[in-house]
Amino acid sequence: MEGRKFLRFMSLLLGVFLFFVCTVNWSSTVLPYNTLHWVDKEAETTLWPPGHKPVHVNDHTSDVPRHPLDPLTVQEMNRVRTILSSHRLFKNAKSYALHNVVVEEPSKSLVVKWREGDSLPRRKASVVARVDGVTHVLSIDLGLGRVVRVDTGGLSGYPTLTIEDMRLATFAPLSSAEFNKTILDRGVDLADLACFPISSGWFGKKVEEKRRLIKVQCYTMKDTANFYMRPIEGLTVLVDLDTNEVIEITDHGKEIPIPKAANTDYRLSAQTDTHKKIKPVNPISLEQPRGPSFTIEGHMVKWANWEFHLKPDPRAGVIISRAMVWDPDSGELRSVMYKGMSSELFVPYMDPTDAWYFKTYMDAGEYGFGLQAMPLVPLNDCPRNAYYMDGVFAAGDGTPYVRSNMVCVFESYAGDIGWRHSESPLTGLEIREARPKVTLVVRMAASVGNYDYIVDWEFQTDGLIKIKVGLSGILMVKGTPYMNMNQVPNQENMHGTLLSENVIGVIHDHYITFYLDMDIDDSDNSFVKVNLKRQDTSPGESPRKSYLKTVRKVAKTEKDAQIKLKLYDPYEFHVVNPNKKTRVGNPVGYKVVPAGTAASLLDPEDPPQKRGAFTNNQIWVTPYNKSEEWAGGIFVYQNEGEDNLASWSNRDRSIENKDIVLWYTLGFHHIPCQEDFPIMPTVSSSFDLKPVNFFENNPILGVPPNFEKDLPVCEAATASA
Ligand SMILES: *[C@@H]1O[C@H](CO)[C@@H](O)[C@H](O)[C@H]1NC(C)=O
Ligand SMILES: *[C@@H]1O[C@H](CO)[C@@H](O)[C@H](O)[C@H]1NC(C)=O
Ligand SMILES: *[C@@H]1O[C@H](CO)[C@@H](O)[C@H](O)[C@H]1NC(C)=O
Repeated sequence: MEGRKFLRFMSLLLGVFLFFVCTVNWSSTVLPYNTLHWVDKEAETTLWPPGHKPVHVNDHTSDVPRHPLDPLTVQEMNRVRTILSSHRLFKNAKSYALHNVVVEEPSKSLVVKWREGDSLPRRKASVVARVDGVTHVLSIDLGLGRVVRVDTGGLSGYPTLTIEDMRLATFAPLSSAEFNKTILDRGVDLADLACFPISSGWFGKKVEEKRRLIKVQCYTMKDTANFYMRPIEGLTVLVDLDTNEVIEITDHGKEIPIPKAANTDYRLSAQTDTHKKIKPVNPISLEQPRGPSFTIEGHMVKWANWEFHLKPDPRAGVIISRAMVWDPDSGELRSVMYKGMSSELFVPYMDPTDAWYFKTYMDAGEYGFGLQAMPLVPLNDCPRNAYYMDGVFAAGDGTPYVRSNMVCVFESYAGDIGWRHSESPLTGLEIREARPKVTLVVRMAASVGNYDYIVDWEFQTDGLIKIKVGLSGILMVKGTPYMNMNQVPNQENMHGTLLSENVIGVIHDHYITFYLDMDIDDSDNSFVKVNLKRQDTSPGESPRKSYLKTVRKVAKTEKDAQIKLKLYDPYEFHVVNPNKKTRVGNPVGYKVVPAGTAASLLDPEDPPQKRGAFTNNQIWVTPYNKSEEWAGGIFVYQNEGEDNLASWSNRDRSIENKDIVLWYTLGFHHIPCQEDFPIMPTVSSSFDLKPVNFFENNPILGVPPNFEKDLPVCEAATASA
């Protein structure tokens, strides 16, 4: 009966379509004031035919680079393969794999000088290859058609896994009869097995030295798509990534039952319990009958007073470059940030036992944050008015492939206020001034196995850039014999929360470290710590006993800029251009504004924390160095943590009035709770890059308010199917 009712309900939902007809009273519409001096109206209409949603089915084979920072095209990647196949290193190799194939960005000075219409600096590719077990970094000149540099470093660690590495590793355990037996002994059909490759970290263990290893753990997919909730607990298979050999099987969980499948499936098709349905909200959509007000040509994004270069990257996810904002006073586009990206992640789990201690992921350097970014789901991951950008990446053999709809760009209006003021009638002034806040969002979502990270770069017309990270997806859970908390003798030793019968959500942290090469008006900048300090008054000086004052200190060297945040010793952190002052003499700048965040409490000598030492401070500032971009080091996989942001910063180089890079780490402690089962509602945190004495005054006085007559009028026109 219940089932039938539900079916009826569903067919009702499917049977009625609501069409929204939107019109704007064009006759009365005054074109909004136009600061978009660079918007080429013609280009805009070719990109955005009115009412036409861009459909992106593109094999990208005819793409050509248009900007010095543009990613490698399909043709260029194919050329890289051809060049490498005739290079001695590869010709004579028994085996090789390409772990990263990206454009080698031209030097900063060349890029800064380049103008639209200039010819491109010579295109180069940077390739990380493992050839017969040795890692090389190659620089390939696509113009000359040859390899121009090969570096074979002496650092510990291995390059990012290839998709093929991950795939082969998950099948490797099946080559072991012992593995098959233990799976069958637990009553799991080998056909229901889902295995997951887990980076092994580095712990100085003898058996793990000098070999590229991965740990594989398995789940049963029986009766659920959410196999992560059905772990085969305590079973870990150590696999050699280069030979696919099973090195060791540890099996300590035979007595731990596999959690049940019931209620684990999160898909719409599995939600059959009509009682649990929330009263639906009416459809919501943001309408832009005249199309979006941004343009994207190639990888250049132009919107309102912003322009920047945007590209997908296999390791970072997205890279924002040459972010410039228009200054209403000077009428110029001014540089804010040369390059910004998520540089590394660190996700340590808080369980020291055999099957868990090594779970200390570094998702960008180990798995490729961009490689794991799946196509975004239109209308749900991004609103209807979004534009989608594809990623073009190389497989392990160098073959280019397209990751479609990897990034979306859209204008957002969340009903927020840009600025406002109303006057009380006491003043006799009838002032009601308010401006809507419309922003431009660049979004990607990486699904690193079970977990989903949503990364937003949100640009505001007032010059602020908000960088937001959302966490969703599925917890990494641990099987347990416990069915109820009344069976647990010591809650503190559980390493987490009982989420369901036989399921523990293990406590863990997430850190995302951002590389932010700020260039405020020019590359030479300084980092200034503005300390809010309590000043006590002298006896008799004032009825007040105390007040706050600011004490500015310019960081001279890197160690002056190693910052741990403190609520009771507050600071503002400014990146300023000491060579450029406002009309009244303040150095122009941007500040990094932390919000809710978390700091790692692990022992600094704990091997994962040594490797994740880039999270030891929330803020660092280093002098610009082209080879210091990846906070965890260039080769993160199984590295020993000897070469990362912490060791670079400890060189204590001079950072005053120099080209500097700001690093910010956004952190989360995650103590799982039952609402995180079977899939987590998104949890977000963010930080801002905010102008500070950058503009002469509020730069958005010229933004017009909304008027009813300018807005689309939508009426529901129903039709039954
Ligand atoms: C459109 O605007 C004009 C001029 O303001 C007005 O006269 C007319 O009534 C409007 N039409 C509608 C349908 O609102
Ligand atoms: C383990 O099981 C798989 C799947 O049935 C099978 O293909 C494989 O050959 C088995 N391995 C061994 C060593 O028997
Ligand atoms: C640039 O970075 C590399 C890698 O950390 C380092 O070897 C080199 O010394 C750095 N150069 C300067 C000038 O700091």
